Amino acid sequence: MSLKADLLRAKTEEDVKDAYIKAIGLKAYNKTLVDIRTKEIWFEAKGFPTPPVVMFAQLLFYVRNARKLGEQIPPFLCVIDTEKAAIMETANALPILDDKLIKWPKSGSKIEKSLAIQLAPYIETHFVVYQLDTYERDFINAIKSAISAGKIIRTPITPDNLRQVFDKWVGMIGEELTGVAPTDYALLFFADIMHDGKKAAVQDLPAKLLHDGDKPVFFLNGVMYELNSLHGYRNFWAIYHRPPDEEYRRYLIERRDSLLPLNEREFKGAFYTRLSVVDKAYDELAAVLGKNWQQRYIVWDMCCGVGNLEVKHSNYHNVFMSTIDQADINIMRAAHTCVGATIFQYDYLNDDVNEFGLIDYSMTSKMPVALQTAIADATAKKRGAKKILILINPPYAEATSTDNAASKGVDRSKTGVARSKFASAGMDGYGKASNELFTQFLARVHKEIPTATVATFGKLKYVNSQAFEEFRKVWQAKYLGGFVVHSRAFDGLKGDFPIGFLIWDTSRPEPITEIVTDVLDRNAAYVGDKTFTNIENDLLLSTWPIRPKANKTPALPLKGAVEPATTTADLRGTNWSDGAIGWFNCAGNDLQQASRLTMILSSGFASGRGFFINKDNLWQVAVMFAVRRLIKPTWLNDRDQFLQPNQQLTDEFKNDCLVWTLFNGANYTAAVEKIRWNGADWPLTNHFLPFTEAEVGAKTAFASNFMTTYMSKLKLSAEANAVMAEGRKLFRHYHQQKFGRTIVDEFKLGRSDVGWWQIRRALKANLANELTDFDPLDAKYNMLSEKLSPQVFDLGFLPE
Ligand SMILES: C[S@@+](CC[C@H](N)C(=O)[O-])C[C@H]1O[C@@H](n2cnc3c(N)ncnc32)[C@H](O)[C@@H]1O
Repeated sequence: MSLKADLLRAKTEEDVKDAYIKAIGLKAYNKTLVDIRTKEIWFEAKGFPTPPVVMFAQLLFYVRNARKLGEQIPPFLCVIDTEKAAIMETANALPILDDKLIKWPKSGSKIEKSLAIQLAPYIETHFVVYQLDTYERDFINAIKSAISAGKIIRTPITPDNLRQVFDKWVGMIGEELTGVAPTDYALLFFADIMHDGKKAAVQDLPAKLLHDGDKPVFFLNGVMYELNSLHGYRNFWAIYHRPPDEEYRRYLIERRDSLLPLNEREFKGAFYTRLSVVDKAYDELAAVLGKNWQQRYIVWDMCCGVGNLEVKHSNYHNVFMSTIDQADINIMRAAHTCVGATIFQYDYLNDDVNEFGLIDYSMTSKMPVALQTAIADATAKKRGAKKILILINPPYAEATSTDNAASKGVDRSKTGVARSKFASAGMDGYGKASNELFTQFLARVHKEIPTATVATFGKLKYVNSQAFEEFRKVWQAKYLGGFVVHSRAFDGLKGDFPIGFLIWDTSRPEPITEIVTDVLDRNAAYVGDKTFTNIENDLLLSTWPIRPKANKTPALPLKGAVEPATTTADLRGTNWSDGAIGWFNCAGNDLQQASRLTMILSSGFASGRGFFINKDNLWQVAVMFAVRRLIKPTWLNDRDQFLQPNQQLTDEFKNDCLVWTLFNGANYTAAVEKIRWNGADWPLTNHFLPFTEAEVGAKTAFASNFMTTYMSKLKLSAEANAVMAEGRKLFRHYHQQKFGRTIVDEFKLGRSDVGWWQIRRALKANLANELTDFDPLDAKYNMLSEKLSPQVFDLGFLPE
C-alpha cells in the first residue's frame, strides 16, 4: 500500500505520522515534543493540509530551544501533512535562529502565522516541497538518502524519463519564461539540464544558461529570458539531479528534436487517452519494467490513433506504431508526432489473417521487416533479442453495444465487431470474448507474439467478469502491476466506470485470480488501492439460499407494488409456493444490478429473478436484501460481486437486517382487496406488518399477523428498536388521516393492513394537505445503516 493510500485513510495526526513512519521504514525514532524524532531528521506533522512554512516555523522553534540547551540537532528537517511533505537542510536555517529581528514566542504551542510570516523570506528558498500525488516516490527516495547518505539524492534524468521530465519542466519553468516560443522550450530545457548550476556540462548548445547573481537567466539567439518566479525553478531542481550521467548526455541531446511541448487540445481521436493518464502509465511502466526499459523493449502500439500513448516515450528508434485509419497516420506525420518511430497503416483485426486464423505477413506486405524480425527473434528467445512490449488502448466496442463502436474505419454494426477476420477464424475457444474488439486485439497478440509483455488500457471485465471465464482459460498471464482510472479521464467515454491500465507478462501463463491496482480519479490523481478478484460460482451470495420450489397454485404476477403484469412475453411469477409470504427479487450478483433489482413484493414478480419467501428463509432474505442495498454502487465498485458470509452471523445482525428491510423503500409488500388481472380479481395479502392493529390504531383487523408473531420471539438491538419506534409513529399517523380519492386510488388504500410502501407513498403524496415529518425515522434509519454498512465488509459479503 502506498503512502498516499494510507494518508487517505488517516483520521488523526497520529495516523499521519504512522503512515510516514511506515512508508519511510523508520526504525529508530521517538515521538516526543517533536512529532517524530530520529538522529538524522526531525519531523513536524499535521493531520490536515498546512502551509510548509507554518510547519517549519514550529519545528525551528524546537530546534532553537534544543540549541540553547546544547542538545544535538539533526542535519535535516521535514514537515509532513496529508497531501505533501517538504525537506530542508537544518544548516540553511541556522543563521536565523540567532537573528534578533525575529520575535520568537515563549512557548511552542503559541506558534502562530506571524512567526511563519517572519521566517518565510529566509527559509522559503531552502526547502523542497513534494506533492505526494506526483512525487511520492521522489520524496521517499530523498528522505531515505538523507538518512543513509546524509544528503538528499535527487532523481536522475535518464533516457527513460526524459519526455516526462521535459513536460514537467515546461509546466514549472518553461511557462515562467516570458516571451519564449513553445518550439524553443526544448533548447532552453537542454541548456538547463546540461548544467551543474555553476557551469555548463556540455558546450556549444544553441541556448545558454547564465546567472545574474544567483538568478538563472536563459540566452537564445541574442535574446535574454528571465523567470517570472524562482519558486518552480528551485523546487524542480531540488527534485531532479543535473546534469544527467555522462553516458547518457549525447544520447539525450539527440532526442532534442522530438521534444515539442504537448498541448492536450491538439490531441483528438476515438476515446483518446489524456496525457496526464499517459504520464501515469509511463510511471507505472518504469516501476514495473525497471531501469532502462525503453532501451530493452521494442514497443508496438497497433491501435495508436494519433499517437497519444507514445508521446511520452523518449526513444523512438524502438517504437512501432500502427493504426487502422490512414487519416490518423497523416495527422501524426503533419504534426511531427513521434518522429523517428516507424509508423504505418494496419488493420490489426483483418490484415494478414488467413482463413485458418493464422498470421501471414506476406498477405499485405504492410508489416515493416524490422518489426517482423524483432517479433521472430523475441519469440525464438534469440540471444540479445529485445523483448516486445505491446502498449495499447484498444477500441472498446462490443457486439452488444453500437454506440461505442471503435472508429471511422470499423464497421459499426453489431455483427461488424464480431465479424473481423481474426474473430471469425482465430478465436475458437474464447467464448463471448470474441464479440469484443479489445479481446480480439489481446487474442491476436497472444497468437502472434506469445512472449510479449502486454500493457493495455481497457475495461476490467476480462479480469473479473463471469462472462469472460472462457477467455481467461485461454488467455493467461502473470500480472505485473497497474492502475485503474475513472472513465471520464478519457475523452469521449460516457458513463462512470473504471478503465484499467494493466501490465501482463504473457510469457508466464498463470490463472488470473486476483489483481491489486492503484486507483486514479477523473483527474488522474491517486486516490487509493483496489483489489479485483475472480470468485468461484459456489462462493457467490446468489448461490447461498435454498430456493423454495413453486407449486401448482396460480399467483398474481406483479410489475410494481400494487400493479399487475402487463407483459405476456417471458411472464414469470404466475405460481405460488408452499407457505410463501412474499417474493424476494434478487437478480444479478453485483452492486450495480443489486441496487436496481433487489425488492420484496406480496406476490410473484412478472419479470423476476429471485425466490419465494417463507418463515424458514425470511432471516436469510432479510440479510441478502440488506447487504445488497446497504452499499451504494460507485464508478469503482459497481462490478464487485457479493459473496457468501465468511463467518457465523449473529442474531443481532440478522434482526437488524430484518428491521432495515421492513423500513426500506424497496419493501413493496402491500395489501389490496382485489387487483384485476387476466380476467379475474386477485387479492394481495400483506404478511410484512411489524405492528398489531392496536399498536397503530387500525380500525379493522389485519388479514395476517405473520410478522408480529415472528418478531415477538426476536430480541431487537437498541438501534433496531429506535427505528421501530419511529416507524410505529408514522403507521399511527397514517391511520389517523383521511386521504383524497386520487391518493386512495393511486396506492390502492382500501384495506387497513396496507404495507410500508403504501403508507410512505400516501403520506408523501398528501404532504400538501397534512405535514408528515419523516426526519425522525430517517435519522434512526441512518443510524442503523451506519451500524450495518461496515459489517457488509467485515462479514465478507463484499471484498474490502
Ligand atoms: C481507444 S482508441 C486509442 C487511440 C490512442 N492510442 C489513444 O490512446 O489515445 C483506439 C484506436 O484504435 C483504432 N482502431 C480501431 N480498430 C482498429 C483495427 N482493427 N486496427 C487498428 N487500429 C484500430 C481506432 O481508430 C482508434 O484510434
